[in-house]
Amino acid sequence: MSNIQIKTRESKFPTAENLYGLFFEDINRSGDSGLYPEMLRNRAFEDSILPEGCTPVNGSYGFETPTGWRDEFNNGEGLSRWLDGVEPTDVPAWYTKNARMQLELKDTLNANRKAALLVTFEEGTCIYNVGFCGIPVEEGKGYDFYMFAKAAQDLSLTLILADESGEVLAQTAIDLKTSDSFIRYDASFAAVKTSYNSKFIIKAEAAGIVLFGFTSLMPQETYKGHGLRKDLMEMLEGTHSKFLRFPGGCIVEGFTRETMMRFPKTIGPVWERPSHVLMWHYRTTNGLGYHEYLQFCEDMNLEPMYVINCGLTCQARFVDYIVDEELEELLQEAYDAIDYATASADSNKWGALRAQNGHPEPFGMKYVEIGNENEGPEYLWRYRKFYDALKERYPDIIFIANIHTEKDGHPTEVVDEHYYSTPEFFQENQNMFDSYDRQGPEIFIGEYAVTSGKHIGDLYAALAEAMYLTGIENNQDIVTLTSYAPLLQNVDYTAWYPDLIAFNNHEVVGIPLYYVIQMMAAHRGKEVLNTVLDGRSMYTQNVGIPGIITFSDGVSLKNVTYNGQPAAITHQLAGEYTQNADEIHLFPGTNRELETFPAVDEKNKKICYLTFGEEENTHIVWEADIKLDSKDTGFGITLWNAYCPMLYKPDETSASASDWSPVFTEHFSWNVQEGKGTGCSVHWLQDTPIADSAKLPLLYGEYMHIKVDASPEKIDCYINGELTQTIPMQLHPCTAVTASADEETVYVKIVNLSAEADAMSIQLDCDVESAYEAVVLTGDSANARNDFANPRAVSPVVIAKEGAGRDFVFDAAPLSLNILKLKKA
Ligand code: AHR
Repeated sequence: MSNIQIKTRESKFPTAENLYGLFFEDINRSGDSGLYPEMLRNRAFEDSILPEGCTPVNGSYGFETPTGWRDEFNNGEGLSRWLDGVEPTDVPAWYTKNARMQLELKDTLNANRKAALLVTFEEGTCIYNVGFCGIPVEEGKGYDFYMFAKAAQDLSLTLILADESGEVLAQTAIDLKTSDSFIRYDASFAAVKTSYNSKFIIKAEAAGIVLFGFTSLMPQETYKGHGLRKDLMEMLEGTHSKFLRFPGGCIVEGFTRETMMRFPKTIGPVWERPSHVLMWHYRTTNGLGYHEYLQFCEDMNLEPMYVINCGLTCQARFVDYIVDEELEELLQEAYDAIDYATASADSNKWGALRAQNGHPEPFGMKYVEIGNENEGPEYLWRYRKFYDALKERYPDIIFIANIHTEKDGHPTEVVDEHYYSTPEFFQENQNMFDSYDRQGPEIFIGEYAVTSGKHIGDLYAALAEAMYLTGIENNQDIVTLTSYAPLLQNVDYTAWYPDLIAFNNHEVVGIPLYYVIQMMAAHRGKEVLNTVLDGRSMYTQNVGIPGIITFSDGVSLKNVTYNGQPAAITHQLAGEYTQNADEIHLFPGTNRELETFPAVDEKNKKICYLTFGEEENTHIVWEADIKLDSKDTGFGITLWNAYCPMLYKPDETSASASDWSPVFTEHFSWNVQEGKGTGCSVHWLQDTPIADSAKLPLLYGEYMHIKVDASPEKIDCYINGELTQTIPMQLHPCTAVTASADEETVYVKIVNLSAEADAMSIQLDCDVESAYEAVVLTGDSANARNDFANPRAVSPVVIAKEGAGRDFVFDAAPLSLNILKLKKA
């Protein structure tokens, strides 16, 4: 039973007005086809063009940047795992029925367009576009099409939206005029039937040659009539957010200097905006551009937070440094972008351009972040240069640094910290900000998510994150801004998992954390109250299979058993091995992924890492005879190895995402090295000892019988039958609380992450009414999640309760977030 004291007379500080916000980055095709509801894929015919300056890898399979980062390309279709069911075509998403089509790279619509589509039609033949895994068409709804085309002769085209069987859902016609320059043609459709897997067909009524310069098909119904997808925007509205961080993320930096986000490329008529390949494996036409982001902020009442590039390409992808004139250009673009948002229409060129683009009043700009996830000396001086220049010109804007630049003596207003980790990390770190220097900069948790371990995107992960958020609320004098990352996932084009909201071309679903954020953000209060928690702790829900890891040559093993049964190798995560009869010899090797993975400074480190057996268990008894050739050799028995489904790979041409990866396989390790044994938790291949090391009676040049008996509470380690070390496992807190109040209400937010109910004793130092409301989020199990079929399986319910008072008991359900709304009496 937990105990909570709420001291309503001890107000700590006011609640931070903008604590909850959104971070949008075009990842998982969440721009075109997502928030920006373009229905035609490859509308500008440029998808199959390699990013500038990059060289092909294996034909059109991949590309390599000048600095050596590699990505899959698949002729512009993106990741290999997106290819299921995709018919091969030279021009991604476009197909023909008896017409001839080819890319035209010279005679394009304008200087910024890299391609056009030249089609030779015979009478009755057609080309068609399959959209982003089908074009969604709904009965009774209207759709607008436009294109720029050049026809060699007058020609009537029929435009058809048809379902999989060929049935016509909507149809209209346009008459092309003979012309030697591009002409814009517009058409609208009204659909008579629904299909989410339709095709857009352009059919010629006679023979003719047409050069298509740019095409677009959009729904007429959009959020507040400003062009963004309505259901997605309404979901975002449901988060009660206060700011929008945009446009990234790593895409701000790009993987080459040509693929950085550049402000001038994202404004003006969309057909004139240059496209570029994003590091999330597809090309964007930048239809969702700077003006659109600002409009999004205005429509949802969000403070804009614009992230600028300060002269580095992505440091995690073999960085390229921008200097001299090009760096000055980037600074100038930052000025221009800020002016576009803030200058009055008559005061400068950018204000005038914004007015010309339909928004005479300034949008405003509250925050600007200088870089994304940049660090090190190359960042520090660039940060200072940009900070000084921008602050002087825009003293009212709040500037955000990527690291603690104040530690190097630089002016620092806000620092953006990012945390991608395990549930335990978020459980453990609810108090991490208690010790932050109150004289130091404010903190923005600009990206956070449970991305490792067995609970990703489910109820358990959401509650661990909720515990962290309560810790943040208890420290919102210093942590003043938060945003989860990433925000959106088109499930047909997943590059990164998990994401706050998943969608396909017609459905939307929030993961459990979506509702956690909604609940937390909707119940803010005005003052944060002092609370004293005597909560519960629990062992981690470890589950997985056992394995062995070694960094040195000269390790052999035989007679491996797992829970009493002979066990074979099941995953070879890194390195090589040979097997002669029963004897396995391990040969550590390098792994390209290790070389490129930024958070693991393991360049050239050699490892061999194997797992044994199939069945994942919470109790593991693993035995083997192991031989170390010399004192320089060592090994780790790795426990609860679990595949981590986070799909992001730093180098997308490395092992497929469904493979177990040495970096993303979460495990615990008993490390045996230099005569000692040490129990370590391991995250992204970094070991953290969790208990004191013990001396071990190791033998060299002969087999030792090693036995490890691991349960959630402890690990017993035996050598030749002798218990040589017991490693106690860590207890993690599983209760969290924060409270705030306004004039009428005390809001108490309580997380119970354990699988047991908790009859919580709550004491208040003021009178409250007996009747109160509890907003409760829970689910059937730790793994409970939402999906399209059951989008609200894990979502809040409001329960009317009785019995609140100065001293009362609240029964917190197992695995629950509870917000008690206590009315002051
Ligand atoms: O949120 C996904 C990515 O994670 C962001 O682009 C980047 O900032 C971080 O590494």
